[in-house]
Amino acid sequence: MKLWGGRFSSRADEIMEQFNTSLPVDYRLYQEDIAGSLAHVTMLVYSDLLTPEEGEVLVEGLESILRDIETGDLLIEGDYEDIHSFVEMHLTERVGETGKKLHTARSRNDQVAVDMRLYAKNKAVEVMDSLQALIDSLLAKAKTNNVIMPGYTHLQRAQVVTFGHHLGAYVQMFMRDQKRVGNALELLDENPLGCGALAGTTHTIDRNVTTELLRFAKPVDNFLDGVSDRDYMLELMSNFSIIMMHLSRLSEELILWSSQEFKFITMADAYSTGSSIMPQKKNPDAAELIRGKTGRVYGSLFALLTTLKGLPLTYNKDMQEDKEQFFDALDTVLDCMEIMSKMIDTLTVNADNMKAAIKAGFLNATEVADYLVSKGTAFRNAHEIVGKIIIHCEKEKKAIEDLTIQELATFSPDIADDIYAYIDYENILTKGNKGLMKEI
Ligand code: ARG
Repeated sequence: MKLWGGRFSSRADEIMEQFNTSLPVDYRLYQEDIAGSLAHVTMLVYSDLLTPEEGEVLVEGLESILRDIETGDLLIEGDYEDIHSFVEMHLTERVGETGKKLHTARSRNDQVAVDMRLYAKNKAVEVMDSLQALIDSLLAKAKTNNVIMPGYTHLQRAQVVTFGHHLGAYVQMFMRDQKRVGNALELLDENPLGCGALAGTTHTIDRNVTTELLRFAKPVDNFLDGVSDRDYMLELMSNFSIIMMHLSRLSEELILWSSQEFKFITMADAYSTGSSIMPQKKNPDAAELIRGKTGRVYGSLFALLTTLKGLPLTYNKDMQEDKEQFFDALDTVLDCMEIMSKMIDTLTVNADNMKAAIKAGFLNATEVADYLVSKGTAFRNAHEIVGKIIIHCEKEKKAIEDLTIQELATFSPDIADDIYAYIDYENILTKGNKGLMKEI
């Protein structure tokens, strides 16, 4: 069933209808579509393009459609071209001839543009809220488990940090993500309704009415741009990709930390799975799936970038492909944030293993060099001396702090008893600017 047909003498082929329809994807825009139409009707009455009585009929009809969809009395299905056709045709079915006036001074091009902007606005707020929930989970876990652990570079044990420092780094990333989504939200907050198909309308309409009713900051300035702009989707999907990249890095760490090799954390059974053959196994599937789904979100971004790159102005049907990519990326990032929050909430931290890893990793070697510098040795010479101490320790299978003062003094006459306090793991964390690093 279509909204057009006047200039056609034969029906579209069935396979073409299936190929053309976007209803199985854009059904989820029904609230935004009806909200846009309600605002449009108010504007048409305000601009004397509809009588108040006609306006009332249309408003009641649209509201009844919304109600029935919400209660399940009206299912979004059938051979309609898209959600816009579905709503409009049901409206005319319900209210009669007046329904045919709804589309005055409007095109599906500005209609779909306004629907998607409204949808993107709402969902961007949901993404920011989910980021906040994730940040809260990280902060809570770090606060109750602020133990010392090895920090890494090149995945080699490097220097002492705390679990709070480590999770705090992710908090910073997710806070930046929130800002990025907030910035995108600000940029997209323009109303394309009233652009018509591409060049406005010969009717005298007032775009400020719909702008205010739909709570946009302003109407778009250029109509051609208004109907063909999909930048905000790309921008949000770029932001989703960055969020996924952050989630994926965190997942990778959770996978490593829960391995037999690290044993820094234990994942809750609720977010792990077993092996069909190896009875002893507990696999970190939730984290692996998040890491895996990152590729899928990047893929959606690149699919839409590629779809848009050769398009002439203004609307082209290629753009219908935007929704599937956007929705999939959005659903994926929302799911992954929720699962990650729950994984963080329920994991347990094995503080003793983290501490043992510090002891075995010479994680105070840099501080031994710093100690020598504080006694007047040049850093490069200090570095050399500590290298020799490490060789000695490896041979003796001892940590630096376990060497006697006599042993240590053979490497440098500057080493005295106060070295032990200087290189103590807990003390290290409060020295110099280390104490200034934000934890939680
Ligand atoms: N289903 C279409 C889309 O998602 C709606 C806009 C149709 N516009 C048109 N001129 N055929 O892009």
